[in-house]
Amino acid sequence: MKIENKKVLVTGGAGFIGSNLVDRLLAQNNIVICLDNFATGKRENLANALQHPAFTLIEGDIRNYEDCQKAVEGCQYVLHQAALGSVPRSIADPMTSTDVNIGGFVKMLHAAKEANVKRFVYAASSSTYGDSKKLPKIENEIGRPLSPYAITKYVDELYADVFAKTYGMQCIGLRYFNVFGKRQTPDGAYAAVIPLWVKSLIKHESPYINGDGSYSRDFTYIENVIHANEQAMLQSTETIYKNRETYYNEDVAKRERLDIDATHFSEVFNVAFGGNTNLNQLFNTLRNNLAKHDPNIAKVDVIYRDKRPGDIPHSQASIFKAQTILNYQPKYSAEEGFARACEWYFENIKA
Ligand SMILES: NC(=O)c1ccc[n+]([C@@H]2O[C@H](COP(=O)([O-])OP(=O)(O)OC[C@H]3O[C@@H](n4cnc5c(N)ncnc54)[C@H](O)[C@@H]3O)[C@@H](O)[C@H]2O)c1
Repeated sequence: MKIENKKVLVTGGAGFIGSNLVDRLLAQNNIVICLDNFATGKRENLANALQHPAFTLIEGDIRNYEDCQKAVEGCQYVLHQAALGSVPRSIADPMTSTDVNIGGFVKMLHAAKEANVKRFVYAASSSTYGDSKKLPKIENEIGRPLSPYAITKYVDELYADVFAKTYGMQCIGLRYFNVFGKRQTPDGAYAAVIPLWVKSLIKHESPYINGDGSYSRDFTYIENVIHANEQAMLQSTETIYKNRETYYNEDVAKRERLDIDATHFSEVFNVAFGGNTNLNQLFNTLRNNLAKHDPNIAKVDVIYRDKRPGDIPHSQASIFKAQTILNYQPKYSAEEGFARACEWYFENIKA
């Protein structure tokens, strides 16, 4: 499904995921509003968008209700990406992460409700699975949170549920699993593992692996995330209702979720490829891909150090729910994504 001729607000649109969404929406003839305070986002991520007549940048903060109201005016859809990411950041400063990720979320959700948006689609997180050891991860089986960040993302889901029930909204949370790709920043204290390692390799510096490299993740290429957002916006209410019946009827314990009437709902979905790559495999794949551009990279080795407290050993998603209800069909395996991301980084990072 392709989203066309709509007016869409992308919060956090100057960030990694948000700016990729903005570009796709503009390429498909939508009117796009971006609300961002550039806390972690970059103006250069919007270089294309800022040239586009259908794009409006609102420099503002989701913690400011007036900014939220102004941004959402006249929009049919909200893709809410703005948040302070990173588990370590939230451990270092739980108050700011909570203010932005919960306070800002509720303000944006409320403004969306007041503006009568058709659907509120928001970035949830695989961190909500917390200390659950069960694999693969299934949406209704979560553990206890392991960080302030994880709490904030779970609380957002609870708010979305309550807004759907009490105000009749349609809310869809997408629990992203380790997203990577073009524009994910390698800079700063809280950079994600892929851009961090790629940047080290390009500079011929050894990256660090925390632990023995056996920990694994369901790395998800950005194109799959864009596809999930499109499906979440465009799947009709009727189809969602029909597919939810199919999904929940398979498990009587989950049927309570169907109590909501047919005009509104709140659902969360894993967004991943459904595979797993351990850190040793990740390192080797990135190094091989980059060595195609610079053979000296093949000689760079990794340095092992102590594992980080709070890191869960393995994370792998079941994507059955998103496949069944949203018709989410991720096209890019992690391997294909790594190759594409490495190409982009090689052109965009200076050694
Ligand atoms: N990248 C991942 O692997 C991943 C995984 C799970 C969930 N998520 C979620 O996806 C969303 C996007 O993440 P990302 O990786 O693109 O991160 P990012 O840091 O690149 O983007 C976040 C954007 O939100 C903006 N922002 C932050 N605070 C704001 C505020 N108070 N007001 C307005 N804008 C604000 C930032 O400036 C930035 O542009 C976040 O909600 C994140 O929690 C990401």
